[in-house]
Amino acid sequence: MSLLNALSLPLLRCLDPEVAHQFALEAMTWGVSVPLCRPQDNPVLETRVLGLRFSNPIGIAAGFDKDARVVRPLAQMGFGFVEAGTVTLRPQSGNPKPRLFRLEEDKAVINRMGFNNQGIDRFTVRLARLLRPVPSRREGGAGVPIGANIGLNKEGANPEQDYPALVARVKSYVDYIVLNVSSPNTPGLRDLQNATRLRKILDSITARHAKHPPLFVKLAPDLDDETIPTIIESAIDGGAQGLIVCNTTLARPLSLRSPKKGESGGLSGRPLTTRAIAMLRLVAQISAGRLALISCGGIESGLDILERIRLGAHLVQVYTAFAYEGPDLLHRLKKEMLFLMQSQGMKSLDDIRGSAL
Ligand SMILES: Cc1cc2nc3c(=O)[nH]c(=O)nc-3n(C[C@H](O)[C@H](O)[C@H](O)COP(=O)(O)O)c2cc1C
Repeated sequence: MSLLNALSLPLLRCLDPEVAHQFALEAMTWGVSVPLCRPQDNPVLETRVLGLRFSNPIGIAAGFDKDARVVRPLAQMGFGFVEAGTVTLRPQSGNPKPRLFRLEEDKAVINRMGFNNQGIDRFTVRLARLLRPVPSRREGGAGVPIGANIGLNKEGANPEQDYPALVARVKSYVDYIVLNVSSPNTPGLRDLQNATRLRKILDSITARHAKHPPLFVKLAPDLDDETIPTIIESAIDGGAQGLIVCNTTLARPLSLRSPKKGESGGLSGRPLTTRAIAMLRLVAQISAGRLALISCGGIESGLDILERIRLGAHLVQVYTAFAYEGPDLLHRLKKEMLFLMQSQGMKSLDDIRGSAL
């Protein structure tokens, strides 16, 4: 068990969830529980997506490191890639507290943070610093692919101006960019998933940027299945190269047991699994190899990860399971994946991708 897990997880669980999160970020910036050297991944976990090399397919989902404060510690902990954000053009404080709730009985979280972040200026200063080599290492960067997840301010936003402006600010620092049009906590944001609106936003980015890192669109699990095919075609025609499936849900499955289940906001973790899987299957069938797919929502075991890859995912992301289990989660997920791959004679993740479709 890592030091952070052993010493601080019981303590963190007693704290208000947002205070605990701030504490964990602070500890990581100080290097607590972060190995000096990134653990070597077994080569069978390696995968290549959109020309990028991932030494393992497990990323930290957006929202954990909104201000790009701990990109390198997350990489050193063993994540295969790190997505920072959601960042907006201007800093904003988000919704009133409390706005983050643990549903322990359900292994879930409800959040209505509302894009609290320090804004794009501080975000890019940190990314630029990251690219400078550190004395103990020869190269700069985090050593893993980095994504920037971009979104709109609550007040005074203009999607066709703000998304291209955000792309301009992050494009030289990151390996991919995610358009977040699916957070349930910014009024009106999810309407941008409509095929026509999405196409206009993508066109506005193309008009301003001849070249930029691959664009992903992050989708909400609450989309009607009937609307998904046109959204996918619009994303492809507009030049997106990938989708993240999916963000948090406004739905409240009847199975929820926690007294916090009535809080408003986006639900994540175990109760999101069924919808995340169904939506991945649908998106993979429709996109039929034309898009890179990142599956997110309720992933908490190596078996879950292999299942998502069999359903067409190229990569996966975790948030809630990491919040509950801490850095030891990564070691466990990789161990479970390796055990299953070895016992089933799999040589690489590419061998099984899409085999369950
Ligand atoms: C506290 C919290 C904050 C989040 N903030 C963001 C965010 O800023 N941008 C975003 O795209 N997704 C955000 N998410 C959604 C996650 O990235 C992820 O899509 C979702 O939690 C499902 O994955 P999980 O079940 O592994 O948590 C947030 C989730 C949580 C729990």
